[in-house]
Amino acid sequence: MMKQSEFEKRRRNIMQKIGKGNIGLIASAPNQTRNRDVDYPYRQDSDFYYLTGFNESGALAVFIPEREQGEYILFCREFDEKKALWEGAHSGLEGATEHYGADDSFPIDDLKDILPGMLENKAKVFYPMGRDSDLDHNLLEWINNIRQKSRNCVNAPGELVSLEHILHEMRLFKSAEELKLMRKAGKVSAQAHVRAMKSCKAGMYEYQIEAEIVHELSIEGLRAVAYPSIVAGGKNACVLHYIDNHHKLRKNDLLLIDAGGECNHYAADITRTFPVSGKFSPAQKQLYQLVLDAQLAAIELVKVGTPWNELHDISVEIITTGLIKLGLLKGDIETLIEEETYKEFYMHRIGHWLGMDVHDVGDYKIDDDWRLLEEGMVLTVEPGLYIQADCKTVAAKWRGIGIRIEDDILVTKNGHEVLSRDVPKTIEEIEALMQED
Ligand code: GLY
Ligand code: MN
Ligand code: MN
Repeated sequence: MMKQSEFEKRRRNIMQKIGKGNIGLIASAPNQTRNRDVDYPYRQDSDFYYLTGFNESGALAVFIPEREQGEYILFCREFDEKKALWEGAHSGLEGATEHYGADDSFPIDDLKDILPGMLENKAKVFYPMGRDSDLDHNLLEWINNIRQKSRNCVNAPGELVSLEHILHEMRLFKSAEELKLMRKAGKVSAQAHVRAMKSCKAGMYEYQIEAEIVHELSIEGLRAVAYPSIVAGGKNACVLHYIDNHHKLRKNDLLLIDAGGECNHYAADITRTFPVSGKFSPAQKQLYQLVLDAQLAAIELVKVGTPWNELHDISVEIITTGLIKLGLLKGDIETLIEEETYKEFYMHRIGHWLGMDVHDVGDYKIDDDWRLLEEGMVLTVEPGLYIQADCKTVAAKWRGIGIRIEDDILVTKNGHEVLSRDVPKTIEEIEALMQED
């Protein structure tokens, strides 16, 4: 569990950025229906959790810097004995102040009566617009109502400002407490990939390998996957977001697994590709080594000061050069890169920020320039090659091969740390592991 002091620190930080005379608002995630009266397991909105540590739906956090009666107000559901009997304990108003550091708490059912008063005489409202249309609508109505009162010397907020912009910049830089959770997510998810490699046999179904992953994550306390696992045998690996996972594994195919667990709201995102039989064929080996070379070269560049796009550019250069050598692309390297011909086989970017969300928040560019890497950022490095089964322009031996290798990398003061390092990725290591009993 994250310490309450960590959430307090974040709130102090956001209060400062919101500034005196302004107000900030953020709502919890709603419950999501799976079917009829069954909900999906609840997952709190990452922005809301980051600031509150509060894991219930039906809540709204309000930040009013330097408000005399208290700066942090939490609207939430009142304690309800009957609900507690059926669904388990929930915090209630007292819990919000006693356990979650709120200076004040009010019933969410009274929001319409209480919040409009809090908006009066504030200059700016920091708010993530566009997530909850009811709340968007209510907020505008409340502000308009205040405008009607302007004759009574009550001023309405004049500006709606994106809360995300300041919040996401904070989330981009991981603290020591966050890194503890991300290290655990990386370590356990790596273990899950090792388990999958060891248990893989021709004739199994993809979902049975998925079960091995989930087993390992759950046994180690990671009860949720950070995103639906991709377990893609053979040509299924060429479907980038394949999650059907219901095909039988064939002995001459590769298996691509993209899976990661979530540790107290922090994600791992790891991909490995390995032969179902435990032995790469010569063609599989050549393409695999090319992706690995690109990945290792890009990881090598992860350090303070590297522009984000250089990771992608080096992977494009290595992959395009390799594809020419192997005969999958024809032409000169500059033209193939300039005309983006390689995109037929490598169509996504090298990676993304990683944190509470698998595709985590934070800008990749500042104004028009690619951002430089800084200490505390965490990103994935995940080049891939996908040769569609019906690709007529390449020799038959390459067709239907999909490969991605993905690791989670922390930018450190002196270089980087690979959070997912415990799962093998060289051809020799993978073959050796799969031969173990
Ligand atoms: N697992 C999603 C991704 O790699 O971006
Ligand atoms: Mn990824
Ligand atoms: Mn992934």
